[in-house]
Amino acid sequence: MADLLLEMAGVDFAYGERAVLSSVDITCKRQQVLALMGPSGCGKTTLLSLAMGLLEPDCGAVVRHTGRVAAMFQEPLLLPWRNARDNVAFALKGREMPRRAREEKALAMLAAVGLPQDCHLQFPHELSGGMRQRVSLARALVAEPELLLLDEPFHALDHALVGQMLALLEAQIRTRGMGILMVTHDARDAAVLADRTMVLSSSPARIMASFDRAEEEAGREARSAFVVRIEQALVTASNEAVEPAKQHQ
Ligand SMILES: Nc1ncnc2c1ncn2[C@@H]1O[C@H](COP(=O)(O)OP(=O)(O)OP(=O)(O)O)[C@@H](O)[C@H]1O
Ligand SMILES: [Mg+2]
Repeated sequence: MADLLLEMAGVDFAYGERAVLSSVDITCKRQQVLALMGPSGCGKTTLLSLAMGLLEPDCGAVVRHTGRVAAMFQEPLLLPWRNARDNVAFALKGREMPRRAREEKALAMLAAVGLPQDCHLQFPHELSGGMRQRVSLARALVAEPELLLLDEPFHALDHALVGQMLALLEAQIRTRGMGILMVTHDARDAAVLADRTMVLSSSPARIMASFDRAEEEAGREARSAFVVRIEQALVTASNEAVEPAKQHQ
């Protein structure tokens, strides 16, 4: 099916003896945004690493139906010896494109993520945490991926910038049909961008609740109620995560 970008079916994963994920099923299609939420340490980054192919499942299958996958990690992971422009342009290395064209594309993407022009040639250590995060987002977007994996992409950004980044992603979803699997701790960001929000339990993580935006009523009040329901599921998941720890006290 041409529409499918990612299929994860019956995925189990453990780090040695430590079972982290159990029977996880996720499919992501073109133009679809999936949000992943859950208690800290439950396995969200691990799940993204499996989706990216950095880890292999112990059981089940992970199939990417596109080679054009990009990820933005929880930490920006920029190359310290390259300035912002060159960090972004690096994602285009290997493309048949003159260096000048790569640099211009990188500068345009830095402008799109709202990095001030006087920072475009600064090095990562000269940028704020939120700026580094935006350079990292620009690097993920510049190669025009079909599947984008985002790990808490907005946690260092203020409210206005989050709105700007959400609008940028929405435009890319609309115009290029990109699909997104995004980890977030903010139910409001999930409710704004995601078609489906999945809440993971922990030890090992399984999808304990799933919320489809299409089934929700329109309007601000309905949106607020939707956010509250996601947050309630998160509280339940967090309580479940705390209970086993208590038993060891
Ligand atoms: N390389 C590793 N080796 C062994 N255990 C690991 C490794 N990476 C993560 N873990 C463990 O796996 C579990 C899941 O970690 P993961 O980073 O996926 O959680 P997370 O949901 O992304 O958490 P957070 O919200 O804090 O980012 C944690 O208990 C963590 O200690
Ligand atoms: Mg994580």
